Amino acid sequence: MKKIVKWASIVIGGLIVLAFLAGMALYSIGMKKLTQTYPNIQVEAIKLPTNPDAIANGRHIAVVWECTKCHGEDLSGKLITDDPILGTIPSSNLTAGEGGIAGIYTDIDWVGAIRHGVKPDGRVEVIMYNYSTMSDQDLGDLIAYLKQVPPVDSNHPAMSLGPILPIAPALGLLTPAAELIDHDAPRPVDTVQGATIEYGKYLSVLCTECHGNQPTGLATKVANWKQEEFIRAFQTGVLPNGKQLSPAMKNFGEMNDAELTALWLYLQSLQAKSQ
Ligand code: HEC
Ligand code: HEC
Repeated sequence: MKKIVKWASIVIGGLIVLAFLAGMALYSIGMKKLTQTYPNIQVEAIKLPTNPDAIANGRHIAVVWECTKCHGEDLSGKLITDDPILGTIPSSNLTAGEGGIAGIYTDIDWVGAIRHGVKPDGRVEVIMYNYSTMSDQDLGDLIAYLKQVPPVDSNHPAMSLGPILPIAPALGLLTPAAELIDHDAPRPVDTVQGATIEYGKYLSVLCTECHGNQPTGLATKVANWKQEEFIRAFQTGVLPNGKQLSPAMKNFGEMNDAELTALWLYLQSLQAKSQ
């Protein structure tokens, strides 16, 4: 009996040591990804508009592409998490206030940070979405808008990653956008805004963060919805069956009829293909 206990404790002890070593290995792989630098990316200049319509579109982009969700309504940044397991992760203050970047960033820095996921010093951004598909026009409008938002002072703590988080990228989760982006790819073509399948496809990247890379799943969900029901679900939060749309999608309520019609047409077109 004693022998069994002895062997059992050796086996369990060994497993604990192995798990610890595996954790250490994954941690260092993940940490390498999170602290990766891309110092030599060729960041392309983009023409920035100045007219009020473009600035208004830039504000719309900031909401619909979820910048405000992570960086706060006034874009002054906020603590995305602050706990012992995940760590302390602030999103940057994007305004020209104290602790913000707008006063320091050049136009090229903005393009690098948003389209390439890389900060001016070459370091990858942690926990930002992949915005490499955003068109020159939308990106230009967005940057022009960001450059003129009212300055807000902020005093966020420095980023410190908890013990678990760095393991995620090693397992293929939370991979920094900069690693996923093909930095030499031709720049995205300007898709003409309007109620077209093509424009819907362009907007559908907004859905992938939560609904997965294959839009067919979403297409199946809305297969039996009418166009008005789809638009109403987004704009009022009420689904065709009377239930509430997930609050996670609140920011899409800002989408106008043309954008939602485009999305609907695109999802319907996938449905038609799969039949
Ligand atoms: C899922 C949350 C999230 C979303 C969505 C998001 N960001 Fe970020 N962003 C962050 C975090 C967190 C950082 C800080 C990253 C770091 O320091 O590694 C950051 C960093 C940045 C930076 C770099 C600032 C610096 O410190 O140099 C810019 C610029 C930026 N974001 C702009 C945007 C814009 C514009 C959008 C919308 C198109 C956006 N972000 C959407 C979370 C987000
Ligand atoms: C931030 C995460 C997030 C994003 C981004 C997102 N969704 Fe959702 N969505 C959810 C959650 C959570 C639900 C509720 C659970 C579910 O049905 O999968 C949901 C539900 C839905 C539903 C209702 C399905 C049903 O019958 O209940 C539709 C339709 C939908 N999403 C469409 C979209 C479209 C189109 C986009 C892109 C414009 C999008 N979502 C982007 C999180 C998100």
